[in-house]
Amino acid sequence: MSVNIFDSYTLPSGGVLKNRLVKAAMEENLANGEQLPDSALFKLYEAWAKGGVGLIITGNVMIDHLAMTGPGGVALEVNSDLDAFKKLAELAKQNNTKIWMQLNHPGRQVFKKMGGKVLSPSDVALNMGKHSGLFAKPKAMTHSEIKDVIERFTISATRAKEAGFDGVEIHAAHGYLIAQFLSPLTNKRDDEWGGSLDNRARLLLEVVKSVRSQCGEDFALAVKLNSADFQRGGFDVDDALAVVKMLEPLHVDMVELSGGSYEAPAMQGRSGNARTLAREAYFLEFAAKIANETKIPIMTTGGIKRLPVAQQVLDSGVALVGMASALAFNPELPNHWQRVPGLVGMIPQVSWKDKTLSGLANMALVKRQLRRLGDGKPVKLDASPIYSLIVDQLRSAKLTKRYRKRYADEVT
Ligand SMILES: Cc1cc2nc3c(=O)[nH]c(=O)nc-3n(C[C@H](O)[C@H](O)[C@H](O)COP(=O)(O)O)c2cc1C
Repeated sequence: MSVNIFDSYTLPSGGVLKNRLVKAAMEENLANGEQLPDSALFKLYEAWAKGGVGLIITGNVMIDHLAMTGPGGVALEVNSDLDAFKKLAELAKQNNTKIWMQLNHPGRQVFKKMGGKVLSPSDVALNMGKHSGLFAKPKAMTHSEIKDVIERFTISATRAKEAGFDGVEIHAAHGYLIAQFLSPLTNKRDDEWGGSLDNRARLLLEVVKSVRSQCGEDFALAVKLNSADFQRGGFDVDDALAVVKMLEPLHVDMVELSGGSYEAPAMQGRSGNARTLAREAYFLEFAAKIANETKIPIMTTGGIKRLPVAQQVLDSGVALVGMASALAFNPELPNHWQRVPGLVGMIPQVSWKDKTLSGLANMALVKRQLRRLGDGKPVKLDASPIYSLIVDQLRSAKLTKRYRKRYADEVT
């Protein structure tokens, strides 16, 4: 008998999700000046909890306030005040919803204007064509910097648990630090952290082992992984399957499959090379292949906005359905689907000639809805991409100024 989207799901670590719909991570850029959750995030997460998803995965939370993906990001470190995180977890857990915190280190994907640490396995700069200058050239990490990153992931995870989160997801996709270690295009090391796939996966595996040992067997632990990075010579689907196999003995609750990076934004449905993506459920083919070959529950995220497509994901053997953009435009979509199964969610697709600007405009359109929800306002389905992009850039410049002022002693 086929599994229904609204059937519950028991995770390997014992937690039960009330249904198969998951709010995938979306960085909101709504933290306060101390990089802590505040009223806007409280309102937003409450809207998702009430909207009917089984699980909420937070936008990426930084493990180091000096290595940030954006100036309004949340950071959870050894000395962070936990009260705001406790409140966020409590609000998100209403309506029998689970909440996991996504933990991330950007590695080289740090905007130059932010400053701070720009680390990577090797000193390979981002190639974004004429936009490359937006990013600084990274520094190849020392062994002690690698150990520091493992410790920081572990500390952030234990603190998330203390704050009441049901689990964490380690971000190893989208070209961030762990993905930089996994990809032969960015990892040129010849020590135990580079070379063979076993070595390139070592950072991910060490982080997962350390988090599991410190957070215990009944805390949910997931990994977001690229099914491929969609670049010639990069991490591909066979590598992804091999890494999933390496994760099997480590009691991982779920692997979320996505794809791409800043250089090749496949997670937005655009591939960097000739290999095309499906128009809906972009990574389903890869996810189904991997789900077929592993015991770890698989989730796929990207392009899902219709209930029959979500059902098709489950019918392919994939356990959970991740949705990001559609839940920014309608946090109530899961509730609505129970009554109106034909309702189609919204995923913006800006397709200007400049692919980088199109990607930024897409993100800006979604982030604008997150801000509106955080402000208690209705979403704006017909928002203008260019206007949203300009507002986002201006806001980002303002927040970057705030960030640099706040950390003036530490950021160079
Ligand atoms: C505004 C925005 C912020 C995002 N931030 C994150 C993030 O913090 N971590 C992450 O893993 N993915 C992030 N993503 C990617 C989404 O999780 C998802 O993989 C992607 O949007 C494709 O799913 P969708 O088509 O349902 O939006 C973000 C996407 C958007 C639009």
